[in-house]
Amino acid sequence: MDWRASLFGVHGRLSLRRGAGRPVVVAIPPSPLLEALRSAPKTNDMDKAKASFERYRTGQFWQNDPGYAFAKPWLRQWIAQETRVLDVGCAYGQLAWYLKSLGIWEKAHYHGVDVVEAAVELAATAHPEGTFEATDAQAGLGVATGDFDVVWSKGTICSAAFPQELLAQILAVQAPRVLLPHTAMACEPIHGGFATTIYSAPHTAYLFTILDQAGFTQQVNAAGYDVTICTPRDYTVPVEHMGTYRLYDVVLTASSKSSMKRPA
Ligand SMILES: C[S@@+](CC[C@H](N)C(=O)[O-])C[C@H]1O[C@@H](n2cnc3c(N)ncnc32)[C@H](O)[C@@H]1O
Repeated sequence: MDWRASLFGVHGRLSLRRGAGRPVVVAIPPSPLLEALRSAPKTNDMDKAKASFERYRTGQFWQNDPGYAFAKPWLRQWIAQETRVLDVGCAYGQLAWYLKSLGIWEKAHYHGVDVVEAAVELAATAHPEGTFEATDAQAGLGVATGDFDVVWSKGTICSAAFPQELLAQILAVQAPRVLLPHTAMACEPIHGGFATTIYSAPHTAYLFTILDQAGFTQQVNAAGYDVTICTPRDYTVPVEHMGTYRLYDVVLTASSKSSMKRPA
């Protein structure tokens, strides 16, 4: 079993895809939490996932989430007829529900990926018009370069164990437009347990990220993107041990399209 499989406790149907032509990423800093992650007990509890799914399904969760408020004008501008949208770290397909609420779901061809198989199963039942895949996005997204017009990844770079690898996979898609709301940078890893509680993830610990802003910009530029917007905000999580950390809502635009104006 390789380190990713042991890290995520991956077995059964969940496929760990290996992306072809995977880009080289900057060095991953050593993390003292990795050993703890590797030896942590694994869970993938469908009952827990169903309970949190119901809360999302019925909760209009986007109303008080500044990440969605930030993204709204971009989504409205970018999603026209037949827009191919990839959602990385889709969980239950929250973006799909949000696009439905904005009345632009019909225009999108939506594909979601998440490492939590239980979440992906529930997402597929909630959004049968979309397509979904359970995969460790750090290892590969299972899509080809050029397959998408927009990549969305909200709150996933801040929850990936290896954010540079995840970002590299996102950039390798080479979608002209990329929205990364709720991206943490330069934070210390702070706690475990969040993903298990909320998404019934197959791993008990959840790292907050390790990207620093200069490294982020360098990685993005090297992949042919400009950072169009990178807006920081402080985010307080009402979960023990988490406290407040700094998040960034990020818009990336392929350099060839970067003369685009910010929507009103
Ligand atoms: C904070 S949640 C955000 C969910 C959703 N995008 C939203 O904004 O509501 C982070 C999601 O990223 C997923 N995730 C974390 N690491 C991942 C990885 N390596 N590959 C795919 N998904 C991952 C988690 O399972 C979880 O569903």
